[in-house]
Amino acid sequence: MSDVILKTSDQTTVPVFALSEAELESYLASAPDFLRVFAASNAFKAKMGQVLSVPGPSGAVERILFGVGGGTDPTIFRALAAKLTAGDYELQTFPSTLNLDDIVLAFGLGSYGFDRYKHRSGARPKLLAQGANIDEVAQIVEACALARDMTNTPASDLGPFQIETIARDMAAAFKADISVIIGDDLLTQNYPAVHAVGRAAAADRAPRMIEMTWGAADHPSVVLVGKGVTFDTGGLDIKPSAGMRQMKKDMGGAAHVLALGRMVMAANLPVRLTILVPAVENAISGDAMRPGDVLNSRKGLTIEVGNTDAEGRLILADALTRATELNPVLTLDMATLTGAARVALGPQLPPYFTDDEALAADIAACALEAHDPVWRLPLWKGYVDALDSDIADIKNDPDGWAQAGSVTAALFLQKFAPTTSWAHFDIFAWNPRNRPGWTSGAEAQAIRGLYRLLSRRFA
Ligand code: BES
Ligand code: MN
Ligand code: ZN
Repeated sequence: MSDVILKTSDQTTVPVFALSEAELESYLASAPDFLRVFAASNAFKAKMGQVLSVPGPSGAVERILFGVGGGTDPTIFRALAAKLTAGDYELQTFPSTLNLDDIVLAFGLGSYGFDRYKHRSGARPKLLAQGANIDEVAQIVEACALARDMTNTPASDLGPFQIETIARDMAAAFKADISVIIGDDLLTQNYPAVHAVGRAAAADRAPRMIEMTWGAADHPSVVLVGKGVTFDTGGLDIKPSAGMRQMKKDMGGAAHVLALGRMVMAANLPVRLTILVPAVENAISGDAMRPGDVLNSRKGLTIEVGNTDAEGRLILADALTRATELNPVLTLDMATLTGAARVALGPQLPPYFTDDEALAADIAACALEAHDPVWRLPLWKGYVDALDSDIADIKNDPDGWAQAGSVTAALFLQKFAPTTSWAHFDIFAWNPRNRPGWTSGAEAQAIRGLYRLLSRRFA
């Protein structure tokens, strides 16, 4: 994917002039008559995402005018990548209100397509942008493409074993250590909740706990935890068909933390990084966990399973307990945890939760700078007792009176999370609507902002 960002080109490149609405008039004032007339007759106003292909005398495209509207949102360059025809382009000018690396990153993200199964030409427009920090941007683009490819891949081709394989390949590429606990070993190694959620799957899709460790042992310990439910049927409290339809994406959290970890390793940040991925299929069989079952957890808290469809918090409970054992200075978890997060904020704005005010502020600032939006929701303690069970220490399906399903899910996780700095992201990981640059299907959310945060905190 990052091959669409060029360091050099041996072809003739088509120049791209990115213009804000405010700049258009002066740009055209010094342009040839032909360009003035052509822009006017095509109603080119430099509106957000507007593309004008200007022909030369031969009829071939001689230049591109690209509208960036008010000139404050570089992510609109995602649309440029989606709208141009294949070929080599060179960014000539862009508004001084925009940052070149942001532009190049957006172009790389916008040229993403999921080509594993669909037969189509792979030819794409490529962008040459002199002076950009191409190496780092390309790593971010690659990582986001990995997260999206994983999340788009159907469960038939991406089960717990394939997540393990991807993690092992990444560990090999970055000289990280990796260990994987599979199947009944989860019981002897004390991951009872991961086992309970994943045990109903077929033998070759057995549940597993993946742990990757990278970096010097004396660097600060940073732990990333991702929900890796490769398909969520809902278990015995089976999901209705409409809700189940997209549940191949329920490993989006795992894909996101692997992608974020990849950025951290590629940038060689001075941290002791651990990536924890409980990878399971929430399947239905005679061995499936039942509503009303009481599970043990790694922490020792007993959990009543009120609903087998609230499986993500169960596997994350054990993974967050494991995180605590690693004495982290910072723990981030990402999960497609609740439908309620989407009800609250919609598909484009993932909520995050933390009680660390400094971390909350840094997340907000870095997300804004990275143009990678997130929105804080509270760990509202008034709803904690919605998780009270009559017969166990806690239950996984909160009482209806509390509503706020994303909040109560986060409160459940907090019972298991490290008491040091911790934030939880309830991501959607998906574009439900197709528009140029934001193709429908998997989307990488929050990890560009988090990479910025980690780069800054651990420079
Ligand atoms: N994976 C789902 C949440 C989900 C659904 C995310 C749709 C994105 C889109 C999760 O495992 C789940 O089923 N959560 C339940 C929890 C409930 C049973 C307490 C939910 O959100 O309805
Ligand atoms: Mn579920
Ligand atoms: Zn789920």
